[in-house]
Amino acid sequence: MDIKKELFGKLANGEEVDLYILTNDNGLEVRITNYGGIITSLKTPNRKGDFADIVLGHDRLDGYLENNSPYFGAIIGRYANRIAKGRFALGGAEYKLATNDGANHLHGGDKGFDKVLWKAEMIRDDQGVGLKLTYLSEDGQEGYPGNLDCTVIYTLTNADELKISYEAQTDKTTVVNLTNHSYFNLAGHDGGTVYEHLLQVNADNFTPADDTLMPIGEISPVKGSPLDFTSPVAIGSRIERVEGGYDHNYVLNGYDGSLKPAGSVCDPASGRAMEVFTTEPGMQFYSGNFLDGSIQGKGAVYDRHTGFCLETQHFPDSPNQPDFPSTILEPGEKYRQTTIYKFLVK
Ligand code: GLA
Repeated sequence: MDIKKELFGKLANGEEVDLYILTNDNGLEVRITNYGGIITSLKTPNRKGDFADIVLGHDRLDGYLENNSPYFGAIIGRYANRIAKGRFALGGAEYKLATNDGANHLHGGDKGFDKVLWKAEMIRDDQGVGLKLTYLSEDGQEGYPGNLDCTVIYTLTNADELKISYEAQTDKTTVVNLTNHSYFNLAGHDGGTVYEHLLQVNADNFTPADDTLMPIGEISPVKGSPLDFTSPVAIGSRIERVEGGYDHNYVLNGYDGSLKPAGSVCDPASGRAMEVFTTEPGMQFYSGNFLDGSIQGKGAVYDRHTGFCLETQHFPDSPNQPDFPSTILEPGEKYRQTTIYKFLVK
């Protein structure tokens, strides 16, 4: 196992950005930059042992800075997904956030955690090699209350897991919901649409949303609808029946805050498979609906449905939905979440 670092580029203000390269004993390789905590590349073998890069992204920092990156591989915060009208109330105070998704707030605002430089520290221990990223989001930043001290640790293990641990502490009551926004294509990032991938999600229910993708506050069964992935189904087999494609928050079965299987994906042609485990109550399945071929990364053109995201998270708009699991963090408490993406061949 190894971890090394190289220069990835420079920000407009001259600050240097690094790229960390983590490898395990089986040859898996993950590349992560401390700009946005972005996973830029992830190489895993197919059933013949041939490696491919299975995440969409860029091989140059500029690709991410040019502002045309739809959150490829990044850490999302302070609040992953949407907050209605960019408003919420907490302890009698009303907070106003950026409305950067029509009338709503999305993925932390104008300059979310995907667009900031994190402090990085390389870790080598008996669990694997890791990258510890820390960032202090100041009181009032993007409109959110409280100084929020965040730590995200990426660990690559010899069991072929990429483990992401999130921690945060605040000095004022606030809301937090962190995730990672990797777009996977198990055929390879340049492998075309993900229609043939078989997806399974451990969720009997989802949170129905309005036409701005904002939850209406209900929890409804997936049974009998094209959203039902309780057994493995090809992503493309019913996608035409879902207006706009998949972009839904699944309510994971049996949520109790402990690490549980959330789902799995397999690309039958290559044999590459991925299992997802999380401590979170929800998972957004997004089928890359807004990719339209206008972005080129790592030599590939990223067209509609050429990548999928499984964003483990609390439910969208929880700050305005009293019946959803709470995203409130109080001073003295510790926010702690873990998600594992485990890679295997079938
Ligand atoms: C999430 C959202 C999508 C979209 C993507 C980024 O998955 O749910 O609607 O905003 O992020 O393009």
